[in-house]
Amino acid sequence: SAAEKGGYDSFMLKEIAEQPRAVADTLLGRIDAEGALTLDEVRIPVPELRAVEKVVVVACGTAFHAGLIAKYAIEHWARVPCEVELASEFRYRDPILDRRSLVVAISQSGETMDTLMAVRHAREQGAKVLAICNTNGSTIPRESDAVLYTHAGPEVAVASTKAFLTQLVACYLVALYLGQSRGTTWGDEVRSVIRDLAGIPAALERVLAAVEPVRELARSLADRNTVLFLGRHVGYPVALEGALKLKELAYMHAEGFAAGELKHGPIALVERGLPVVVVVPSPRGRSVLHGKIVSNIQEIRARGARTVVIAEEGDDAVVPYADHLFRIPAVPTLLQPLVATVPLQVFACELATARGNEVDQPRNLAKSVTVE
Ligand code: G6P
Repeated sequence: SAAEKGGYDSFMLKEIAEQPRAVADTLLGRIDAEGALTLDEVRIPVPELRAVEKVVVVACGTAFHAGLIAKYAIEHWARVPCEVELASEFRYRDPILDRRSLVVAISQSGETMDTLMAVRHAREQGAKVLAICNTNGSTIPRESDAVLYTHAGPEVAVASTKAFLTQLVACYLVALYLGQSRGTTWGDEVRSVIRDLAGIPAALERVLAAVEPVRELARSLADRNTVLFLGRHVGYPVALEGALKLKELAYMHAEGFAAGELKHGPIALVERGLPVVVVVPSPRGRSVLHGKIVSNIQEIRARGARTVVIAEEGDDAVVPYADHLFRIPAVPTLLQPLVATVPLQVFACELATARGNEVDQPRNLAKSVTVE
């Protein structure tokens, strides 16, 4: 009903708008008065965390994209090798696991059959399993050794939005906790990242306040067949997520590519007028990557692409090559997916609506896939 949607046209729009709150709630109770991380709820003893030799993240759909981003955070802060795999592939591959492996299973519903089967398989091999889940008491956390709940609240729209952002927050917390436990990230750095995370809800409010031009652009593209997405580093999974949303909701051909792969294939797809969304890394920090992406934007534009650029506030280098430019607040590189994903969610939602699609219940899809 309209009341349940809180005045929004769809649950998806409502859930997109709830993201600042969902992120804040997921941080709540996990930061102590001194600004340090407290994850005692993750009942895996510190000596076991110190002994972990590899982390394997398993998930499906949007949760898999959260896992891809988790890899950057886990390897950066915890300095432990991390693989990420689709749950449906993992369990049939005879993966190499033992008691020194930590498997992180990410699932909004906690009921996805492929992810559950991956969890069971991992535990049979002696691995420890940590679930990141949004649904209290669901099957995956019940069958795992430990659980870190996301506090997104119930997510009704089939396409995941607020659960995804809170999965990212949970992944960052796990990466920091691993780093803290293993002594690869010191208290000061943990506190500084926690401060940055605490600033994300306000940053998200600013992103949400500025989405109207994204909606306008989406409406103007309603008759297109294809949209490509490019990103690099943590922006690459964001590109994949932007493309997935467009497939799920707008039923359009949408693909995400690693920008560095452009010349190995995707650039052949570029033709006059093709919309290409580019997620630009911060010009601070990893400035080498920033320069490379700016060149990519130049290259595709020279071949006729209509460039839709998502870039940090104050990033002037992209201005000459952006047909459409959407600004996101400056946040540390690893955290950028939290703000960069939101315009892409809005883009897909609005495009779907413009094409007359049912946003909350896309054809052929289910909120939770409990069969293989
Ligand atoms: C379905 C949903 C997606 C979700 C995926 C994984 O495909 O439509 O939105 O990302 O399942 O679901 P889970 O509950 O395991 O996160």
